[in-house]
Amino acid sequence: MRGTMVLFLFMIVFLSAVTTSFAATVTYDHRALVIDGKRKVLISGAIHYPRSTPQMWPDLIQKSKDGGLDAIETYVFWNLHEPVRGQYDFEGRKDLVSFIKLVKEAGLHVVLRIGPYVCAEWNYGGFPLWLHFIPGIEFRTDNEPFKVEMQRFTAKIVDLMKQESLFASQGGPIIFSQIENEYGNGDIEPYYGNRAKPYVDWAAGMATSLNTGVPWNMCQQKDAPDPIINTCNGFYCDQFTPNSDKKPKMWTENWTGWFLSFGGAVPTRPVEDVAFAVARFFQLGGTFQNYYMYHGGTNFGRTSGGPFIATSYDYDAPIDEYGLIRQPKWGHLKDLHKAIKLCEEAMIATDPTITSLGPNLEAGVYRTGSGLCSAFLANVGTQSDATVNFNGNSYKLPAWSVSILPDCKNVVFNTAKINSMRTLSRFISQSSEDVESFSGWSWVNEPVGISSQNAFMKLGLAEQINTTGDKSDYLWYSASIEIKGNEPFLQDGSQTALHVQSLGHALYAFINKKLAGSVKGSSGNAKVALEVPISLVTGKNTIDLLSLTVGLQNYGAFFDLKGAGVTGPVQLKGLTNGSTIDLSSQQWTYQIGLKGEEIGLSNGGSSLWISQPALPKNQPLIWYKTNFDAAGGNEPLALDLSSLGKGEAWVNGQSIGRYWPTNNAPNGGCVSSCNYRGSFNANKCLKDCGKPSQLLYHVPRDWLKPSGNILVLFEEMGGDPTQISFATRQIGSLCSRVSESHPVPIDIWTSDQEAAKKAGPTMLLECPSANQVISSIKFASFGTPGGACGSFSHGKCSSKNAISIIQKACVGSRKCNIGVSIATFGDPCVGITKNLAVEASCT
Ligand code: GAL
Repeated sequence: MRGTMVLFLFMIVFLSAVTTSFAATVTYDHRALVIDGKRKVLISGAIHYPRSTPQMWPDLIQKSKDGGLDAIETYVFWNLHEPVRGQYDFEGRKDLVSFIKLVKEAGLHVVLRIGPYVCAEWNYGGFPLWLHFIPGIEFRTDNEPFKVEMQRFTAKIVDLMKQESLFASQGGPIIFSQIENEYGNGDIEPYYGNRAKPYVDWAAGMATSLNTGVPWNMCQQKDAPDPIINTCNGFYCDQFTPNSDKKPKMWTENWTGWFLSFGGAVPTRPVEDVAFAVARFFQLGGTFQNYYMYHGGTNFGRTSGGPFIATSYDYDAPIDEYGLIRQPKWGHLKDLHKAIKLCEEAMIATDPTITSLGPNLEAGVYRTGSGLCSAFLANVGTQSDATVNFNGNSYKLPAWSVSILPDCKNVVFNTAKINSMRTLSRFISQSSEDVESFSGWSWVNEPVGISSQNAFMKLGLAEQINTTGDKSDYLWYSASIEIKGNEPFLQDGSQTALHVQSLGHALYAFINKKLAGSVKGSSGNAKVALEVPISLVTGKNTIDLLSLTVGLQNYGAFFDLKGAGVTGPVQLKGLTNGSTIDLSSQQWTYQIGLKGEEIGLSNGGSSLWISQPALPKNQPLIWYKTNFDAAGGNEPLALDLSSLGKGEAWVNGQSIGRYWPTNNAPNGGCVSSCNYRGSFNANKCLKDCGKPSQLLYHVPRDWLKPSGNILVLFEEMGGDPTQISFATRQIGSLCSRVSESHPVPIDIWTSDQEAAKKAGPTMLLECPSANQVISSIKFASFGTPGGACGSFSHGKCSSKNAISIIQKACVGSRKCNIGVSIATFGDPCVGITKNLAVEASCT
């Protein structure tokens, strides 16, 4: 009877657990967010749902959870959800509710940054373009029409979340929300004068009045009014303090890398520095930090901001653009998260006591009355390693590193000592047989100049964004000029120059329907000026200027008013006698967008496609189409578009984004190996100088069918589509370098403290996929090896038997552990701290 009763009670508890979720209260105090009465140390990471596909979401979320995240953060993208005023769209990649529910199913929290201004390298900072056309509107200031719209959208999102019971107060996963974004930055708020503060206060009050039941934040907003928490964004936030001792120290954007621009080099941020920044933050009293980005993803379609933000938004994040974990970044941060969690009880119980251990050496200690003690020991010097004395023990602290001691005694983690292995991987274009799976090409010429019924005329030159409303990247400006045989500037060989000035972002000029010249701006300076020699004929001459935007401005005071397009002057300059004809204020004919856009060529339909052997190549303004079968398997796919110029690509009607493989990074400014020691900035660790900023373009698997896929390209400048190829990622090598002074792998600490105290440093190698084994050891040295993964070399000191020991332990297995000690390898150089460096292959 008793047994039945217990079973019955158990059933009730079980059933209610699976059918309802319990509401949680989320509040905060000066230490932390408080969930159901308990302070929390929270590790969060940003994944922007529209920068991947619904098919990718579960795996991205699982990899985030496996990486030790407690929460997923995302912005909400207004222009995606309300493309037309009053018409909402939450389908497919825009399905915010499904994304949040998936995070909930994985057992993680959600941080929802509603904005609705988001910056985010997103087109127009997330604002819909129609907002700009509301009479009397001024963005992000104390302006009634703006506030009405901002409140309406914010409330719309909050209501949607409430309807779906997604706030923690309703049993959902959302524990924290953001209003506005970095408005308080020194290059933003001051420019809005005395209407800024009323706006900040209004936004705070408006958000609070929506009664979400969870706290709100404003990032980079020193004066955020109560109860809004002001939070920090940056590469480091350890020195940040909130504006009240009733608010916790929170870091909403820890930039794991940086964004890529077309025409820029590829930014990277070493994981030793990311880990250092995180550990310093928690050492000095922080309790919430969010990686921006944890998965960056892809700017599909025309979503990238700018100008000139590239299609890849990889960000050097722990999960790469394609959804694969990036090692050792992901793994080292995972170890860091475990180390921090071992300190959580002490951290939430008290404030840290900060003491100096010497120049550049600092201890942060969380010691409770009940005998808990966790410590973070930092060496913030950039040059020399140090030995410190702490609690009667001596600790070696490498320069620019933090050691974590969850029991104030044993070092379980040091930010500069990476136990996680590195993987060397690269995209390999598929062999030529596979390339032939593109079954023939057809094309349509995009007419030069005006071709649409919707063209219109206007006196003078028009600003582009006001004209197109961003319906398209393209705006044609067309004019004609009559040349009489006796014009003075035509004498002497009929050479004339066309001079065009434009606010950007790029321009093609056609004279008498032939390309005369082109020019592009850069992320630093979007403006362009074209000066090209042209040949005019006696009689009528046509001038067709194709002006284009490459992502609308997303940051800056009054970013919304930054114009684009040919605002003039447009002049014909005679080269012989210096005379000039100014065409700026004459009658121009305008066409918004391309003919091919108007008739919907991007999904491959239309009877206009020409398939003949003489495929035009390396000519401007051509639409191309082909069919292809998808390569088997489910590894991520990229299109290698190196043979093209600039344009946009669609797979089965879905835009994979703008492509621009001819836009190269400058030659200088990159480093071959990056020194993580010392303050990081976005230009510190650039790579691929002098090379195209982006050659590979992600084609999500869920946009593909097994066969009969349609690829459409619109090529602006000229290229050879027959040379493009698909590429898949191949893991080249696994590498690891672990020294005798490395901490024991953190997993031993988390599972068995006693075993961990006895264990020594250990190298772990593991093939990334379950069906692979370690097939060969390319390099192994125990001693003083030099070089980096892929180019290890033996040092003066090297154990003879390292390679055979590793071979025996690893070859044929998916994973292996090797003790990094003289017990395993013997001692090739007594008295010197030795490293084990290994490079292995998996097949
Ligand atoms: C921050 C902004 C983010 C993003 C980031 C750079 O200032 O809040 O939205 O733009 O910079 O990636």
